[in-house]
Amino acid sequence: MATITVADTKQRIDEPQAIEQYLAPFGIWYENWPVAGRLTEDATAEDILAEYAPEIERLKERGGFVTADVINVSPQTPNLDAMLAKFDKEHTHDEDEVRFTVEGRGVFWVRPDEGSVFSIEVESGDLINVPRGTKHWFHLCDDRQIRCIRLFEDPAGWTPHYSEDGVHGAHPPVCWGPSYVDGQSKVKPVVEL
Ligand code: LAC
Ligand code: NI
Repeated sequence: MATITVADTKQRIDEPQAIEQYLAPFGIWYENWPVAGRLTEDATAEDILAEYAPEIERLKERGGFVTADVINVSPQTPNLDAMLAKFDKEHTHDEDEVRFTVEGRGVFWVRPDEGSVFSIEVESGDLINVPRGTKHWFHLCDDRQIRCIRLFEDPAGWTPHYSEDGVHGAHPPVCWGPSYVDGQSKVKPVVEL
């Protein structure tokens, strides 16, 4: 389940309905899809797209998306740091950014036109849609691992427009992670608040 953290107040929101309500005024959709038992550990990108085809079809109709792919990021990913450096600077897109997290974790930060910056930490089962033009950035957690389905309206793919006055540098990359909740996780937060 996702966790929202509001930068100004440090308020944390981790209840699905409250998450949806917090995000709605910003036009961000949040959904939690069932994941248990749907994929084997060795699932390929094709297997993932086939298994989630019903949900993907529903979103395609809702948002006019024309392509879907699977992005797979792990410590073994070649040029991982260069890839993450593209994501962790405040930017916008001309299309909605739709991400369903199949596996792993990550943090989407949003800088709304009005009100506090906030982050949305996502994990397996979480879907979010960051609307076009919304200022945002992203980082991984300490395990540097995430697998996401992405939907695109423009088949040309991923184009960022970086902000000249980006505030990403003012926000330490924090992952709460399951360790914060149950003390059991092997995944440590990047930075403790
Ligand atoms: C993206 C996210 C990571 O643009 O912001 O893919
Ligand atoms: Ni983006």
